[in-house]
Amino acid sequence: MLDELRPIGRDPGTGGYRRFGWTAADLACREWFAGQAAARGMTCEADGNGNLWAWWGDPGEGAVATGSHLDSVPDGGGYDGPLGVISAFCAVDELRARGVRPARPLAVVAFAEEEGARFGVACLGSRLLTGALDPAWALARTDAAGISLAAAMRSAGADPAAAGPDPERLARLAAFVELHLEQGRGLVGSGAPVGLATGIWPHGRWRYRFAGEANHAGTTRLADRRDPMLTFANTVLAARKKARQSGALATFGRVVVAPNATNALPSAVDGWLDARAPDGATLDGLVAAIERAAAERGQRDGVQVAVTAESVTPGVTFDAGLRQRLQAALGGLPELATGAGHDAGVLAGHLPAAMLFVRNPTGVSHSPAEHADDADCLAGVLALADSLAALAG
Ligand code: GLV
Ligand code: MN
Ligand code: MN
Repeated sequence: MLDELRPIGRDPGTGGYRRFGWTAADLACREWFAGQAAARGMTCEADGNGNLWAWWGDPGEGAVATGSHLDSVPDGGGYDGPLGVISAFCAVDELRARGVRPARPLAVVAFAEEEGARFGVACLGSRLLTGALDPAWALARTDAAGISLAAAMRSAGADPAAAGPDPERLARLAAFVELHLEQGRGLVGSGAPVGLATGIWPHGRWRYRFAGEANHAGTTRLADRRDPMLTFANTVLAARKKARQSGALATFGRVVVAPNATNALPSAVDGWLDARAPDGATLDGLVAAIERAAAERGQRDGVQVAVTAESVTPGVTFDAGLRQRLQAALGGLPELATGAGHDAGVLAGHLPAAMLFVRNPTGVSHSPAEHADDADCLAGVLALADSLAALAG
C-alpha cells in the first residue's frame, strides 16, 4: 500500500508530497482509499465534510474507528497520515486472518485536510464534523490562488451545503484510535517500536501582516524607509527568543512578500506564526509577547502590524480509561506527549480517543526525509490490531 501511494502527489524535484485537500493528488488518494475498501468488501462513504469512512459491518451504534489522513504539508513525507490509514487496513486484514469477528462495527477513516496546507485551518475535516468550526466561516476560507473551500469541494463533486457538524455520526462512535508516525525522537532509545500518546500540546497558527511602503532600494535613505521586512525579521528573532524563554516552540515557516522584487522595498510582508506550548497559559503568554514585540518594532519602523488567529487548537489529554485498556492489551508501551496536532485530538473532546506512535529513527517529519523502518511499521499494525480486538471484541 505504501508503494501504491508513493507516486501520488510527489514532486519530482524535491521528492516531497503535495497532497492538498481537494486537489487532483488528494482525489487520487481518495480513489485509492475507495479501492482498498472495495477490495476488502467494506462499504465506503464520504461524510458531508469530505472525511472517508470504510465500514466492516453495518455502520451502527458503538462503533470503533481507526485511521488518520492522506493529505500532506507542502513537501511532506510519505508517512505522516498515510501510515495510519494503511495500518488501519492492514489491521483489518490481520484481524480477519486471526478469525476475529468484531462484535462492534469497525470503521477505517481518512480525515480531510488534516494539515490545513491549502486553506490554513488544521484538522479541517474533523473539526467541521465535531462542530468546532462554523461551516460558513470554513467554506469561505481561500487558498493561495483565491479558491474557496466551497468552490474546491464543488469542483471535486462534493456538496459544500452538506458541510458542518454531524452529531449523529459522532454519537455512533464508541472509540477512535489513530496510529501515527512519531514526529520526534521520543521512542528512539526506548527499545520499543510503538508508544502510546498521553496528550497533545495546545497549538495554533497566526497570520501576521506587516504593511509598509514600497520604494526604490537604490535611492531611499535608510532613515526614510518604512520597511516591513525589517519588522518581520525582528519579529522572527523575538519569537525564537520568547519561545526559548518560556519552554515553548515558535516558528515562522511561511512568508509572502509583496511585490517580491530584488530592488524595491516591500510594500507588505505576510508571515505565519506556528506556536505551541506545554499548557494553554504558556501558549497565550507566548503569543501575546510575540505580538507585543512585533507592534513595538513596527512603531519604530513605521510599519503597521495586524495579527489574525487562523487556527487555534486547545491542548488534549487522551482518555485515561482507554489508555489503561490499551496498555493492558498491549503490555506496557512507553507513553509520550507530542507537540504535533492530530484528528484524534479533535475527536478526544467528544469520545474516548487514543494514539499509537511508531518509532521514527531520525525524528524528522514534515519533510521528504521522513522515514520509519518496515519492521516498526509492522509492529505498529500488530499493536493496532490488538487494540481493535480489545475494543471491538
Ligand atoms: C500537524 O501535523 C501539525 O501538528 O501541524
Ligand atoms: Mn503532519
Ligand atoms: Mn499527521
